[in-house]
Amino acid sequence: MGRRLSGKIVIATHNAGKLREMRELLAPYGIEAISAGELGLGEPDETASDFAGNALIKAQAAAKAANLPAFADDSGLCVTALGGAPGILSARWAGESKDFYAAMDRIRREVEATGAKEPWRAYFISALALCWPDGHVETFEGRVDGDLVFPPKGTAGFGYDPCFKPDGHARTFGEMTAEEKHGIPADGSRALSHRARAFQALARGCLA
Ligand code: IMP
Repeated sequence: MGRRLSGKIVIATHNAGKLREMRELLAPYGIEAISAGELGLGEPDETASDFAGNALIKAQAAAKAANLPAFADDSGLCVTALGGAPGILSARWAGESKDFYAAMDRIRREVEATGAKEPWRAYFISALALCWPDGHVETFEGRVDGDLVFPPKGTAGFGYDPCFKPDGHARTFGEMTAEEKHGIPADGSRALSHRARAFQALARGCLA
């Protein structure tokens, strides 16, 4: 059991898609979430070599700047045939213009070039870090495995959602509503999305 979280927290992200999903996940726990963007906080460089390390950098910087508990996620898509790429570089592959269709096409071209047989396997990872102003930290991780789908399908969600079909489902994340993508069962059994799975671990540890 980790340290219990209550009241107001800062969500250390400047990504509108992730902010919306995190607010949806926190709402049932009565946690008021303000974003680092709304507070005018800067974005620290993500210099760690893994997802959890980058989440921690962002949460620590926001907790210190806002003097409130802060919550950050770092996430991305890892393609097995590409040795885990784009991984922590998932946002960067979309470039300045945040063109995820170009990034998905780069994945298709690079996997094709490896000669890997279909189905092309991939997984999303979400690492969550909670940091208090006194320096206490808690980290959690969630993962969802699936197949890559080309051409990408669906316009819901964000980022790489249209090219990822989670195992056990017939549709891509891009074809699912937010509720379907999170897939949080009322009975407390395992959620679907990497972010919801990491969030379940956080809820068990810090919100119960
Ligand atoms: P970061 O966590 O801000 O470094 O960015 C991770 C990048 O991975 C995002 O910009 C998205 O493109 C991608 N990503 C992470 N989670 C998801 C998801 O749930 N769906 C689609 N793309 C995602």
